[in-house]
Amino acid sequence: MSELQKSIEIQVLRFRPEQESEPVWESFNVPYTDDMSVLQGLQQIKDDQDGSLTFRWSCRMAICGSCGMMINGKPELSCQTFLREFAPGPIRIEALAHFPIERDLVVDAGLFVKKLESIKPYLIPKEPRALSEGEYLQTPEQLEQYEQFSSCINCMLCYAACPQFGLDNGFTGPGVLALLHRYNADSRDGGRGARMEILNAEEGVWSCTAVGYCSEVCPKHVDPANAVNQNKVNSAKDYFLNLVTSRGDQS
Ligand code: SF4
Ligand code: FES
Repeated sequence: MSELQKSIEIQVLRFRPEQESEPVWESFNVPYTDDMSVLQGLQQIKDDQDGSLTFRWSCRMAICGSCGMMINGKPELSCQTFLREFAPGPIRIEALAHFPIERDLVVDAGLFVKKLESIKPYLIPKEPRALSEGEYLQTPEQLEQYEQFSSCINCMLCYAACPQFGLDNGFTGPGVLALLHRYNADSRDGGRGARMEILNAEEGVWSCTAVGYCSEVCPKHVDPANAVNQNKVNSAKDYFLNLVTSRGDQS
């Protein structure tokens, strides 16, 4: 069979709230070549078969984090997953697990964004500093403390992989805890106190049950499970420090 004659069955879990009360599977036969991503397969369906198919994407190069979906049960970026990997098919595609579906493959990311905002994902200067004082200097060792965790693209794949978030969506969750650590570990930052409150809370770091699947699915090798472990150490230190300080105050 020539390259252009190849085709694969893509089964998509559809949800159009105006016509379905529950999501339903729909099957499409998609012609493909070996260089086509799953996202391109969906675009083929949208362009040539059913223009109502709805999904998110932007960069098509694993940078924007918007094309995450469940592909044969695994959270993946559809722009960096290739149709050829699933030949002869079928491929089953669903919206990211553990999030409410808005339409077809689009989920409501509102809760995730709220969690993200709550940890103040930006540098909070330790003290006011005039522009004339120049840039904040940092050694390579200081950079190394947080660099890996700064690669997060907010794709939410780790949330779809996290059984704890599936059970309790109040859990702060892997990606946001990794970003929290990214800022707390930055030598230029002074916001640790405010973030520790979220970290130490019941729904913070101690809700993690250490399954580790979050790190397995992360497309940017952020290793959120490692960030969560480091956060646990910091939280424990914080607890003992507070204990010692409060005992000192009483004596
Ligand atoms: S930690 Fe990885 S999987 Fe989780 S949101 Fe960030 S980039 Fe995506
Ligand atoms: S389209 Fe941007 S990460 Fe896939």
